[in-house]
Amino acid sequence: MANKQRIMRVLRQDDLDDIVSIDETASKQSRREYYERKIASILNRKTNINCSIVCEVDGKVVGFMMGYVFFGEFGISDATATIDALGVHPDFRKFGVASEMLDQFVMNMKAAGVRKIYTLVNWDDFALEKFFSRQKFVPSKRINLEYVMP
Ligand SMILES: CC(C)(COP(=O)(O)OP(=O)(O)OC[C@H]1O[C@@H](n2cnc3c(N)ncnc32)[C@H](O)[C@@H]1OP(=O)(O)O)[C@@H](O)C(=O)NCCC(=O)NCCS
Repeated sequence: MANKQRIMRVLRQDDLDDIVSIDETASKQSRREYYERKIASILNRKTNINCSIVCEVDGKVVGFMMGYVFFGEFGISDATATIDALGVHPDFRKFGVASEMLDQFVMNMKAAGVRKIYTLVNWDDFALEKFFSRQKFVPSKRINLEYVMP
C-alpha cells in the first residue's frame, strides 16, 4: 500500500459494490439497499451537492466518506456539513486513507463556505471516536435527542 498510488475523488454511482463490501467488513451485515438509497440521495443534484469522497487504489474503492452540506437549515444561519458514513477496507487501514479523505472533505467544505462539520459517533465506538478526536473534532454544543417508540 505504501508505494501504491491513491486517488481521492468524489463519489460515483458505480462505487456502490465496493462501498457495500467495505461496510460489510465493519457492520457484519449487507446494507446494500441502505447504501443504494444513500448514494441516490447524495447524487440527486436537485437536492444536494455531492461532497462525498472515496479513495481509489488500483481502480478499486478502498475507503469512503459520505456527507451532506446544509445551507442555513435547522435554525443555523451558517452553512454546515455532516459526515454520516465512513469506512476503510481493513487491508488499507492505518495508512492515512481516512485522514486524507477528511483533509479533502474539509478543503472542499471550506471552499463552499462551510463553517462547521458535524458527525455522530456511537458512545462505545472508541476507534472511530479516537480517529475524529485526533482530527481535532470535539464534543458539540448541540445535543442529540431521541424518542423511542412506546
Ligand atoms: C476509523 C477508520 C475509518 C480509520 O481509517 P484509517 O484509514 O485506518 O485511518 P488513518 O489511517 O487515517 O488513521 C488511523 C490511525 O493510523 C495512523 N496512521 C496513519 N498513517 C499511518 C502510517 N503511514 N503508518 C502508521 N500509522 C499511520 C494514524 O495516526 C491513526 O492512529 P490512531 O489509531 O492512533 O488514531 C477505520 O478504522 C474504519 O473504517 N473503521 C470502521 C468504521 C465503521 O465502523 N464504519 C461503519 C459505517 S459508518
